[in-house]
Amino acid sequence: MTQGYFISFEGGEGAGKSTQIRRLAERLEAAGHDVVVTREPGGSPGAEAIRELLVNGAADRWSPVTETLLMYAARRDHVERVIRPALAQGQIVLCDRFADSTRAYQGAGGDAPASLIAALEDHVLGGTVPNLTLILDLPAETGLKRAEARGGAARFESKGLAFHQRLRAGYLEIARREPERCVVIDADAELDRVTAAIAEAVAQRLDLR
Ligand code: TMP
Repeated sequence: MTQGYFISFEGGEGAGKSTQIRRLAERLEAAGHDVVVTREPGGSPGAEAIRELLVNGAADRWSPVTETLLMYAARRDHVERVIRPALAQGQIVLCDRFADSTRAYQGAGGDAPASLIAALEDHVLGGTVPNLTLILDLPAETGLKRAEARGGAARFESKGLAFHQRLRAGYLEIARREPERCVVIDADAELDRVTAAIAEAVAQRLDLR
């Protein structure tokens, strides 16, 4: 069976993931790859409906555990209906956020137990995990300023600086523990330099000619 390649993009608010995903998709397509761009929470009709519940409303609308369960309901639908079929067809999946967002936002940022998150990863993902995770890292203050200027997923942006500092540390810890899968990219650099760093990380794993 053909097997595709799964790349997730992670990072705090305002890290510039969308722009970089678009650029990488263009680069991969130019090199002849078949690319699917998707996002979380969302990416399938059912998961997009759950996204509406998650990104709108007051910061304390959901507790971190409830958020975790909603994220995983959305993620399961997305994995079943979009990610697995694409990988089975040999496509490259570029996903704007995936399971590490739950570890960082609900786990490190909130107080959802790591054991709950690990159990959900085991049972819900069923081995569908990224081959490569690019963590776009920048200071929480810088990211929040960029995100405010852009407008966007307001509910998580309104959680305060300390929350965003904890989730940044959470991401760096994930990278430290899983150096094979994760590459930390300095996202506090000029746009083209970020694009080049991402291309270099991907070129070590896929043909980017
Ligand atoms: P985004 O589309 O701007 O990245 O917004 C999605 C928001 O959802 C973002 O603030 C991060 C948050 N999020 C979580 O808290 N946990 C998750 O598992 C995922 C996928 C996203």
